[in-house]
Amino acid sequence: MRKKVSVIGAGNVGATCAQRIGEKGYADVVLVDIVEGMPQGKALDLQQCGPILGSDARFVGANSYQETANSDVVVITSGVARKPGMSRDDLLLTNKKIVQQVTESVVQASPNCIIIVVSNPLDAMAQLALHVSKFPRHRVLGMSGILDTARYRAFLALELNVSMQDVTAFVLGGHGDTMVPLPRLSTAGGIPVTELLPKDTIDKIVNRTIKGGGEIVALLKTGSAYYAPATAAAEMVDAIVLDKKRILPCAAYLDGEYGIKGVFVGVPVKLGAKGMEQIIQIKLTPEEQAGLEKSAAAVRELIGVMNLGNA
Ligand code: APR
Repeated sequence: MRKKVSVIGAGNVGATCAQRIGEKGYADVVLVDIVEGMPQGKALDLQQCGPILGSDARFVGANSYQETANSDVVVITSGVARKPGMSRDDLLLTNKKIVQQVTESVVQASPNCIIIVVSNPLDAMAQLALHVSKFPRHRVLGMSGILDTARYRAFLALELNVSMQDVTAFVLGGHGDTMVPLPRLSTAGGIPVTELLPKDTIDKIVNRTIKGGGEIVALLKTGSAYYAPATAAAEMVDAIVLDKKRILPCAAYLDGEYGIKGVFVGVPVKLGAKGMEQIIQIKLTPEEQAGLEKSAAAVRELIGVMNLGNA
């Protein structure tokens, strides 16, 4: 039997993510939004891709959670997106209300699902979803690291003029200005990029990666990036539904790993059927460790503003 994946929020990220998942054909997809008719219309449109793609995935659009009952994985993309001049943190209180209400409904309908949070500010929204769902930490993850590494990999591949496929990259920390790209663990065909590019070129690429979301917001003017975020979230769904045990950078709730406790930050995670099956710990340089702790402190600050006692 095909698995069931629900995507909450049928906007740019949600609908594109549903499309990506549906293309694989291994899961049926339920799209939920508060706008009447919109998820139903997009689901119909997506369904009609099936014969062309050769995918048997079934799409359902809905304005309630009944249709999501007993989902295996739920991707939360509902919320407002950034506009020019806004940081992800500016979305905090608006998206808090949305993600809180959505998580409550998701949990009621699918008490055993694995939740992937995409709404921003990512790490804080993942923390909120964990808090509200009361799920064990291995069943609540945030999507950010795959997107941040994809941006980094794309810029490196373009600079090196090599295949995107051959560039791997490592990014730790929060989804924002405090992310910590690690050039020493980023490679092209297994060769550290530090051997292939001068330091100032790598520094420029790191800087562009950190500001990668903002660059797109400034160009789009009406919203934020969605093709790559949606594709990244779908990769996490793949790893879970197909029990691939991928090692992917994800926002995970740390409980002492990397010396950090009680907060979501981006770390390498083994993703499989159980969700987060392991947090992979590596030895960091003092500078990298300090960067990660700065990320955790920034997330803690947002968590303080959310006042989770009231969530
Ligand atoms: N329940 C369900 N859907 C909701 C709710 C809710 N309570 N509140 C808002 N939505 C829906 C909106 O109706 C809209 O269709 O969420 C959708 C968001 O879509 P877009 O505005 O297109 O935003 P998008 O670009 O998809 O970004 C969504 O992902 O990457 C993050 O920062 C981004 O937080 C933002 C989220």
